[in-house]
Amino acid sequence: MHSTSPETPGLATAGARSPAVGTNNGNIFTGDTTLQAPPALPLPPDVSAPDGLHNLPRPVGHRFVGRMSEMAILEQALRPRNERAATHVVTQAMSGLGGVGKSTLALYFARTHLSDYTAVWWIDAETPETITSSLAQLTTRVNAGTDTSSMPSAILAEWALTWLDTHPGWLLVFDNATHPDHLAPYLARLTSGDHLITSRLTYGWHDLAATALHLDVLTPPAAIHLLHQLAAPGPSSEAAAAQELADELGYLPLALEQAGAYIRRTRNTYSGYLYRLRTHTARMLNTPGNGDPHSITIARTWRVTLDTIAERDPLAVHLLRVMAWLAPHDIPRDLLNGIADEPDADTDALALLNDFSMITLTEGTADIHRLVQALARTPDPKDPHRSDSAISQAQSTAATLIQDALPNNPETNTAGWPRWRALLPHIDAYLTHTQPDTDTAETDGILYSASRFLRGQGQLSQATQYARRSVITSARLNGEDHPSTLTSRNNLASAYESAGDLGRAIPLYEQTLTDSIRVLGEDHPSTLASRNNLAYVYESAGDLGRAIPLYEQTLTDSIRVLGEDHPSTLASRNNLA
Ligand SMILES: Nc1ncnc2c1ncn2[C@@H]1O[C@H](COP(=O)(O)OP(=O)(O)O)[C@@H](O)[C@H]1O
Ligand SMILES: [Mg+2]
Repeated sequence: MHSTSPETPGLATAGARSPAVGTNNGNIFTGDTTLQAPPALPLPPDVSAPDGLHNLPRPVGHRFVGRMSEMAILEQALRPRNERAATHVVTQAMSGLGGVGKSTLALYFARTHLSDYTAVWWIDAETPETITSSLAQLTTRVNAGTDTSSMPSAILAEWALTWLDTHPGWLLVFDNATHPDHLAPYLARLTSGDHLITSRLTYGWHDLAATALHLDVLTPPAAIHLLHQLAAPGPSSEAAAAQELADELGYLPLALEQAGAYIRRTRNTYSGYLYRLRTHTARMLNTPGNGDPHSITIARTWRVTLDTIAERDPLAVHLLRVMAWLAPHDIPRDLLNGIADEPDADTDALALLNDFSMITLTEGTADIHRLVQALARTPDPKDPHRSDSAISQAQSTAATLIQDALPNNPETNTAGWPRWRALLPHIDAYLTHTQPDTDTAETDGILYSASRFLRGQGQLSQATQYARRSVITSARLNGEDHPSTLTSRNNLASAYESAGDLGRAIPLYEQTLTDSIRVLGEDHPSTLASRNNLAYVYESAGDLGRAIPLYEQTLTDSIRVLGEDHPSTLASRNNLA
């Protein structure tokens, strides 16, 4: 998106050469052509506001949920109070992801406070043209007795501005603004009312608006309440499924509405929808709940924004697809540093995504909505942002970024532990979103290291699970007898051992030692380590008859192969003692 020309339609006729709007001058002369003047409008100050003047769309009352604190913020900022001077203008901007409920909240606020304002006018602020035409409609409405159909919109809009300025105490809602520049001329011009702006853009409002509110998703109770209202009458036995579905939908109103309406119309259940959502994510996110093929869906809502972002910086869309493989919260920004060769390219891309509310950026982290992720991980041949190749490229980038970020020596390098803890949710997410049978060498590296860290931290069931997946992956990629596979198997045996599962640990150590001798030879350091491990686990099992001779052999071999003073030799001697 580019900033539009400063020529603002609403003001296009406001110069010295403009027709004198509202005066009964009969003809308008433009060059050498004389046009028949449209029927004249009265002077704006002479036209009083009809009672309860507004053009608000549908009421939202009975279905509106949550948003108490946000309403309080809006009321604090906007609602006309007695002490406020008549010539005061307040502008409140409200930003957030598409479908998060900005327009609905603005509408609810406007409806709730209708009687506090002389007039409430809803302006479609998507383009300069829609703003002009919304304002023109105000003129038409106020002059109900006059046929304005032949008057140019720009003239009608100009009349509306003059009228607003002479009738203080109104509220204008600029809904879905796509650029601050589109609004600036109006906000600068009008001096006596309230402006409420909704926009996906988080950026650019500080010059125009006194305050900006970033709207987040619903709270879980509000989301579940909405789901029940929409899908009703939901069977009460489905309470847990409702919670799970609301969570899977990330408490996003548009998604909840889509799901609720779908469940009601198809007589489905929460768990039925959840199952479909998990198995056919893209399809469900692109299925309107009400069955109307033209109605807006989650997928379509964000597509528009992604088109705009892609036009500005394709790297930003790639980055979004990469983030789709990580956990939705607290993604370390420095994890994403390596995404581009040019310095700061990642910073620019993140900022752009944040500008359009596709992510939420803090100094050190980034958050992304889980449905944005779900969509960005699901290929769709009809969506240029979600081609198969773009998505798998993003997946492999995510794996590389994770692997490059892993600190060494996970068991002993305590300085790396905070980093491990920050990365772990993203490792878990990556491993959850990927299929084990497609794991690559990079994924194997992540599995192996993560299982070691987890084992060291005592998170043994997860450690065992990753170790097992690493063995299977390494065997598939490298072969059963490859040294890496032996190492992986040894690691899995250690995980079993740590978990106290000696029944699994011992045979696996024994097999690994046998394989090690066969593949690497008696004297290979890995074989020595294996033998030592096996001795140790025999000892743990109370089987000293087998432990002691193994320890003795390990020590002798260590001295011979590694030397008297090698750390492993010392460790061996220690074990034997
Ligand atoms: N607080 C709410 N209570 C009930 N429904 C809501 C609420 N907020 C949003 N919705 C529903 O979610 C859908 C998307 O909300 P909308 O306001 O259009 O999002 P945005 O303007 O942020 O893109 C709407 O159809 C609306 O009915
Ligand atoms: Mg909206």
